[in-house]
Amino acid sequence: MDRPHTILSCAMSIDGRIDDTSPERLRLSNEADFAEIDELRAGCDAILVGAGTLRADDPRLLVRSPVLRKRRRARGRTENLLKAVVTRSGDVDPGARLFSTGDAGAVVYTGGAGVATATRLLAGRPDTDPPAEVVDAGDPPTAEAILADLAQRGVSRLLVEGGGHIHTLFLTSGLADELRLAVAPFLVGEEDAPRFVMPGAYPYTPGSPMRLVEARALGEIAVLRYALDTVER
Ligand SMILES: NC(=O)c1ccc[n+]([C@@H]2O[C@H](COP(=O)([O-])OP(=O)(O)OC[C@H]3O[C@@H](n4cnc5c(N)ncnc54)[C@H](OP(=O)(O)O)[C@@H]3O)[C@@H](O)[C@H]2O)c1
Repeated sequence: MDRPHTILSCAMSIDGRIDDTSPERLRLSNEADFAEIDELRAGCDAILVGAGTLRADDPRLLVRSPVLRKRRRARGRTENLLKAVVTRSGDVDPGARLFSTGDAGAVVYTGGAGVATATRLLAGRPDTDPPAEVVDAGDPPTAEAILADLAQRGVSRLLVEGGGHIHTLFLTSGLADELRLAVAPFLVGEEDAPRFVMPGAYPYTPGSPMRLVEARALGEIAVLRYALDTVER
């Protein structure tokens, strides 16, 4: 299957939580880590999040550094990445910042009744907003269908920025290539705090683990990079 090189990126606490239960977003990175993530974004063609992240954080998913945006422009690319959202229900807020910012548009991957719901909701957006398309990627949407559609759009590098359900979808599919984890030096300790991943049938087992390619300190943050080609033991 023709698919983009797919990188998963996540910041988590030592107990594997990617947020806490308070309304404010928990800070799990430092400035140096944010800068690296910005570089990672700038080297990709598309960036993807789940509808849960859209609702919780209302992210813009832009390349923050003007230097990196200028570099992209000089290479004939859009300043920002194509944005992708995955939803089962199709219930996406048309006023979300992700849809009104950037210069490369957005795609909403959904399926079943979600297609009509997302189409209806997004039809209410102002004409001045960048384009946003709804794509049927199966009911429920699969990583395979999403990646195939992105490849058809010319996306050769994809950054998946969470949340936990979406990391689970991609990691169980076995269709991702790299995992970058930033581990903050504390525990959240709350039962209901969002997790990096949910229970699932993962191809990365004790008998066929991921391959650790890098482990380093970025200030107080531990950065771990794994290649997702499994190593048979
Ligand atoms: N620390 C980090 O690096 C980081 C990064 C991103 C997010 N976060 C945090 O993570 C939390 C959100 O994570 P989350 O796990 O709740 O949400 P999520 O993974 O962003 O999105 C979950 C949503 O995706 C859709 N979905 C779930 N399973 C699916 C499947 N198999 N196929 C297609 N769509 C599926 C559903 O949308 P519908 O409900 O519309 O059907 C579901 O509600 C927030 O607290 C956010 O702040 C942290």
